[in-house]
Amino acid sequence: MKPSNRRNFLQLGAVGLASGAASLVLPKGTQATEPSGTIDEYTRFIAKTDARPLTEIPAMKRPPMIATEDNILGPYYRKGAPFRGKVTPPREPGDVIVIQGRVWGIDSRAPLANARLDIWQANAAGRYDNDDAKNPPAANVFYNRCRLAVDETGYYEFETIRPGRYQIGTDRWRPSHIHYLIAAPGYKPLVTQLYFKGDPENGRDSFIKKSLIIEPTKIASAGGTYELGQFDIVLERA
Ligand SMILES: [Fe+2]
Repeated sequence: MKPSNRRNFLQLGAVGLASGAASLVLPKGTQATEPSGTIDEYTRFIAKTDARPLTEIPAMKRPPMIATEDNILGPYYRKGAPFRGKVTPPREPGDVIVIQGRVWGIDSRAPLANARLDIWQANAAGRYDNDDAKNPPAANVFYNRCRLAVDETGYYEFETIRPGRYQIGTDRWRPSHIHYLIAAPGYKPLVTQLYFKGDPENGRDSFIKKSLIIEPTKIASAGGTYELGQFDIVLERA
């Protein structure tokens, strides 16, 4: 990694560290967590079973290498959301949807292993945690927001619920959408939004772009049905 790229990456990482981690210190005399085995045993176990990864990365279609289109940031972005793979709190009302994808570099046509994503959205009723100026959220409470680091294959995945539509102006509604801010060292940061095929407001929205509309599929699981959508992101060189 070039020194300048490394600096950018560290700056991106510092955003996470700056939000309160410095005040977290264990009490004196804290014991190390007890092991239930050894790394050698674990390595032998993995070698004996097989070389499968612990989680299966789905085989996804490689997207066309066209730079992902940008979209408005909107008024509800907040810095410093926690790193987690679930956007919503437990048992958040709404229809569960999982979004998966990879972040790609348009020049190398390869996944970017150091990309980070910032995700934010409305709840099922179309509300953001900071849309009421009279009742702003506490600085450390991030409702329906998260950040994610992609894995070594550029892959990301998060679970959330279908965001609700919300009114802007007297007779205009925004279709259901999820906001993204994507950054990777050496590439132009991208602010964009993901939309869903079939939303009745898609045809009337003045911000939507056709290339940002995905068509999730329904998946049946033991816990009920959920939707699965793919949204790959292709970044341009800085
Ligand atoms: Fe929005």
